[in-house]
Amino acid sequence: MIKVSASGKLMLFGEHAVVYNRPCLVAAVSQRLFVEVGKNSENKILIDAPEMKISGFTVSLTDLDKEQPKEIRFVLETVKNFFRKYNVESGLKIRTESQFSAKYGFGSSSAVTVCTIKALAELFEIKMEKKEIFDLAYKTVLDIQGVGSGFDIAAAIYGGVIYFLTGGKKIEPLEVKDIPLIVGYTGVKASTSEIVKAVKAEMEKNPEYYEKLYNDISQIVEKVKTEMKNSNWPEIGRLMNENQEILRKFKAPSVEYGVSSEIIEKLVEACQRAGAFGAKLSGAGVGDCIIALGEDKERIEEAIKEAGGIPVSVDIDYQGLKIENKS
Ligand code: PMV
Repeated sequence: MIKVSASGKLMLFGEHAVVYNRPCLVAAVSQRLFVEVGKNSENKILIDAPEMKISGFTVSLTDLDKEQPKEIRFVLETVKNFFRKYNVESGLKIRTESQFSAKYGFGSSSAVTVCTIKALAELFEIKMEKKEIFDLAYKTVLDIQGVGSGFDIAAAIYGGVIYFLTGGKKIEPLEVKDIPLIVGYTGVKASTSEIVKAVKAEMEKNPEYYEKLYNDISQIVEKVKTEMKNSNWPEIGRLMNENQEILRKFKAPSVEYGVSSEIIEKLVEACQRAGAFGAKLSGAGVGDCIIALGEDKERIEEAIKEAGGIPVSVDIDYQGLKIENKS
């Protein structure tokens, strides 16, 4: 058996703009996802995914092309793509285990995809560079979701803080330490692909408007990248507030809030009032998590609670994808 793990992610700056060829900044988080894979003498794949309430699921190798339950689609699509790419095949037993709840939007789908590829590469003794793992994981995620920049896959593989361009055209790990980061869950599960599609439909009606918003976001990302080298958190917090204002100017999925929402605005304002340097949504928007930067973590987390959110304790992870053990 081979056990590997990868980190979850949080988008720091540049969401949505990254889908349209602008850079973003993403952080890997210390909550990890684990995948254990071993060979199985029958021509079947057996899956246990307790977090997904899947126990003893079995599929025969000849049925891999059929529609699979959504909870384990990423694992099975990965296996299929891996077998095809490397022209290998075997029955398998697979077990997944997660330290984070899929509801936070920490990227469990991309982490499970990356881990499955790495575990299979070890199992079949195929050497894969990080970028090759990225490319196969990105293909797999696109096969299922149809949209996405792949920033979450980069975080799961490389760890740390990354300057990223869509499809992995650029994956640049940055030297950033001790970010005074605070995270609050809105309590609302957001569908990234639906929000990205709604933004795209709106963008097609008014491309210039969105080009300008994306360019403004891109400038913020570049400034933050520079300021991160100096750990200038007050200035980066100010830029967070600016980025949040731009995300509110989107006209979809809601005219009033753009990709933000009432609960996101409430939590962001609560953080700002509690002395945060700045705050913004993280990811596609509408729900999932907000992030803030500030020195008085306790006070800001208290403010998140009072405003109806749930503080989530998160550290930046610097390990990325790693082999836990082989037996
Ligand atoms: O909702 P999340 O955390 O998966 O973030 C989505 C970020 C987008 O830029 C909107 C889409 C993407 O794939 O980059």
